[in-house]
Amino acid sequence: MSAIGIHDLAVATGHHVLELDDLAERLGVDPAKYHVGIGQDAFSVPAPDEDIVTMGAAAAKQVIDRHGSDGIRTVLFATESGIDQSKAAGVFVHGLLGLPQAVRVVELKQACYGGAAALQLALGIVARNPDERVLVIAADVARYDVDTAAEPTQGAGAVAVLVSADPDLIEIEPLSGLFTADVDDFWRPNDRSTALVDGRLSVSAYVDAFIGAWDDLASRGGPAYDTIDRFVHHQPFTKMALKAHRKLTQHVGVPFDETELQTGFTYNRQVGNTYTASLWIALAAVLDLDDDLDGTRVGMFSYGSGSVGELITGIVRPGYREYRRQGAVRADLEARVPLTVDAYRALHADGAATSQDVDRPRVTAAPFRFAGVLGGARHYEATTPAA
Ligand code: CAA
Repeated sequence: MSAIGIHDLAVATGHHVLELDDLAERLGVDPAKYHVGIGQDAFSVPAPDEDIVTMGAAAAKQVIDRHGSDGIRTVLFATESGIDQSKAAGVFVHGLLGLPQAVRVVELKQACYGGAAALQLALGIVARNPDERVLVIAADVARYDVDTAAEPTQGAGAVAVLVSADPDLIEIEPLSGLFTADVDDFWRPNDRSTALVDGRLSVSAYVDAFIGAWDDLASRGGPAYDTIDRFVHHQPFTKMALKAHRKLTQHVGVPFDETELQTGFTYNRQVGNTYTASLWIALAAVLDLDDDLDGTRVGMFSYGSGSVGELITGIVRPGYREYRRQGAVRADLEARVPLTVDAYRALHADGAATSQDVDRPRVTAAPFRFAGVLGGARHYEATTPAA
């Protein structure tokens, strides 16, 4: 069988940014707690006319603009922050992008893990029919209550991944390591728009899942630690990945060098937690910023609270440099419009999904916007009319 894996990967984020220095000043916290203690510098905040659909569509548009939609018969949308209890967010994206009708669309949920599950399903579909390509979208708005310890670990963003045979970027290897345990470290009951989290428990549950997934991969004949050249992680905050990786090296009995993880932290430090998209934004950073990946093996650890973990490995395709989207994420980050703490908190208060009819102000500069709710249904539109 020919290689199957990630053919393209694109990122989108929210219109606004909140600098954690500003939040620290408001809360009377030493900014070093955020920059060093949790390893975050800022987080993206969606405009009032943005959500997981608009960010997911913005990421997916980049992929469709480059590759077209031929062969795409499946769209998988992974999210924790779904905007409807029934309709899949991916159906809105399908409409906005004008994808063919002969497509199946479905939404996946397991906290931050859904993106990795979607990738595995996509690989299986392509393995059955190598002429097909699968569009995987992972998008989230991470929302906690204000004035809680978790407030600085919010964020917003999306990735779109095109899974195909003979991929340009990364061949995903068949073995992976799995771990599931029923833990109440983070959850969001149906009547809440903000998550409930036990931060300390989430760190230990993440570590348990990482080590458990490693042991499962090893028991199935997975690669030795020293044959994995780079690691990227799900990063609710980058310090969490760092702590967990240190524990893994102790478990395996190898030295820990935290400098090796820093490239994968670059974008996440600025975007904040993006739940299902977080791991893949870390992967985008490594692909963009590391010029020496030809033929190297990358370990990718996905974690979704509750909890499910999976450790996936892939081999970077020689020539990936020609196909990566170098500079695109940096440009997106730099284009964000800064918010004051008061302005961010006003948006936060208005951020819960609603079924009440409402018009949304035109703010976003992204290609698609959430126009509002009419007759209880959400409506989306392109920000620039089609030519
Ligand atoms: N300078 C440097 N470091 C400082 C400092 C200073 N002035 N002040 C404090 N620190 C350090 C502390 O020593 C601590 O470091 P260690 O953890 O290494 O000891 C760190 O900063 C944090 O300090 P606290 O423990 O006091 O922080 P806190 O009580 O305010 O909470 C947090 C921090 C636990 C990360 C909190 O922000 C939180 O709960 N965030 C949410 C956690 C989370 O995202 N969990 C979900 C995991 S998975 C996920 O993404 C969800 C999903 O599946 C959808």
